[in-house]
Parts: sequence; C-alpha cells; structure tokens
Amino acid sequence: MIIAIDGPAASGKGTLARNLAKHFSLNYLDTGLIYRAVGAIVLEKGKDPSDPLSATTAAQTLKNNDLDRDDLRSEASAAAASKVAAIPGVRAALLAFQQHFAASPPGAVLDGRDIGTVVCPKADMKFFLLASAEIRARRRVKELQDRGEEAIYASVLSDLRARDERDSGRSTAPLKPASDAFCLDTDSLNAEAVFKIAVETIEERFASNKRSGS
Ligand code: CDP
Repeated sequence: MIIAIDGPAASGKGTLARNLAKHFSLNYLDTGLIYRAVGAIVLEKGKDPSDPLSATTAAQTLKNNDLDRDDLRSEASAAAASKVAAIPGVRAALLAFQQHFAASPPGAVLDGRDIGTVVCPKADMKFFLLASAEIRARRRVKELQDRGEEAIYASVLSDLRARDERDSGRSTAPLKPASDAFCLDTDSLNAEAVFKIAVETIEERFASNKRSGS
C-alpha cells in the first residue's frame, strides 16, 4: 500500500503521515527532508540555492546520513529547500530514491508536494491537505517555539507565503492536488480529527475496491 500526502508548508502533512504509517504499519518518508538537506549543503558551501549547478551537484551526491543533519528543520533550510526544489536537475536526481523507498515492502506513506502527481502517481490513496496561510503560520510558530527556537509570527507568515508562491509557481512538479486526491481543509480540524477522517476514507476506499473486485 502506498499513501501519498501533499500540501503546502505546515498543513499537517508530517503529523498525518506519521500517524498513518504507524496505524497501517508502513514505512514513512518525509520527502521535504531530502530537499532541506540539499538546500542546507548548498548554503554550507556558501553557494546560492537557486544556482542550478551547485544545487544539482549537491542532489546527485546526497548521502543517507545527510538526512540526519540537525539543521534541517531551520527556516533557513526550508527557504533554501524551496529554491533548490524548483531546479529540474535536483528533482530528477532525487526521484529514483523516493520511488524506490515507496516500492519497498511493506509499502509506505510519503509526504511532500508532488507525491501524488509525480513520485507515486499510482498511489493507492492520495490526500491533499489545505489550511489558510494564517493558521499554518500560527502552527509553525508554535512548532518552532516548542523546539525552543525564537519565532516571530509576521516573519514566519511572510516566509511561508513566499515558499507557497515558489512551490506552486515552479514549472517542474508544482504544488497542486492530483486529480484523484482527497482534499481536506484542516483550518478547523486538529491532528486527531484529520487522522480519523483519513483512516475512515482509506477504509472506505479499500472496502469499495473489494466490493468492485479491483
Ligand atoms: O515542513 P514543511 O511543510 O514546511 O516543508 P517541507 O515539507 O520540509 O519542504 C520544504 C521544501 O521542500 C518545500 O517548500 C518545497 O519547496 C520542497 N519540497 C518539494 O519541492 N517537493 C517535495 N516532495 C517535498 C518538499
């Protein structure tokens, strides 16, 4: 079973993905971490994350332990990630790793921006999470503060909007719902409610597939 979860920054993808992976005993891949690692490496080398050669080289030489860096959750890594993520060579270099992960038994939950559209277009279930920029910024501020980091709402909101614009506006694998994705607006739903709806939706989908024999 492959479950794809896409959506903008701080829409609750990671929490839902982790909960679903645990519930259905599947592997879990946070694909944003891969782009964050590429962005962080380019920044560390003193290069511009928008430079195709630097970013593509970093993506092609990425190693598994680069995903364990402790600076990946910073807002600087997030901004660099959304710049390297717009470069077609970077996306091409990272595609095989994600598809191989998804295809490995017993199956996986992947979250990102293009899982349902590009990485796993044949996923058994696709979710697209939505929430207003203001609510997402509030969630991200809390997340950063819970980690002991300083976070200013206005700057988190403007960074998030800039990232949304880059992610939706790029020509390669832009952020958008797959035509067969189940879209869920999480503005007034907490993580538990989102998880409950997702599990019910998956169970209904499988029951109806069983009935129709597909
Ligand atoms: O946690 P948050 O939703 O803020 O970000 P993330 O999922 O860690 O992704 C960081 C950045 O990586 C995004 O803004 C995207 O530009 C990029 N990304 C992508 O292009 N494709 C993916 N499958 C995952 C992330």
